[in-house]
Amino acid sequence: MMTESQVSQSKKTMATVKIEPVNARVSVQENEPLLTALLSQRLNILQECDRRGMCATCHVHVNKGAENLSPIAGRERRTLSMLPQCGENSRLSCQARVLGGDIEVEVPEGMYLSTKDDIEQLIGRRAQEDILHPLSGKLMVEEYKLITRTVAQELKAAQLEISRLLTNTDSI
Ligand code: FES
Repeated sequence: MMTESQVSQSKKTMATVKIEPVNARVSVQENEPLLTALLSQRLNILQECDRRGMCATCHVHVNKGAENLSPIAGRERRTLSMLPQCGENSRLSCQARVLGGDIEVEVPEGMYLSTKDDIEQLIGRRAQEDILHPLSGKLMVEEYKLITRTVAQELKAAQLEISRLLTNTDSI
């Protein structure tokens, strides 16, 4: 027998999110962020700004069902406007909440390095896959290309910038 809260949970609207390029379909409850669907597939979503709508690391392209997502609010719009990879269908998956229906999203190819990675140690190595800038989403190092000291410094600067943004959240 279901408890009252289980009954009300089961009555919540569900949405179906199709995720490319991994070709997965995930059911998500109404009002959950799109990010929930991505994380259920163990995708490499760094969430560098801790889901505060200030980085590019959870950026997705919404190919279908954009009308089934919450509208874009001020902070998300500002962050997206700074992304060179931003398209008409771009959303930050930590900010876009599902409202029901069918949605199809595409995760940009490439990876964002974790702040826990020791960037210094990557200098002189070849990138395992494309490395993307955590704030702008732009391609920094192509797959198989060498990671130079300059790139490592750029990554460190980006991480410092994100820390600065996080400590000044109210002024953004
Ligand atoms: S985790 Fe940074 S904008 Fe979503």
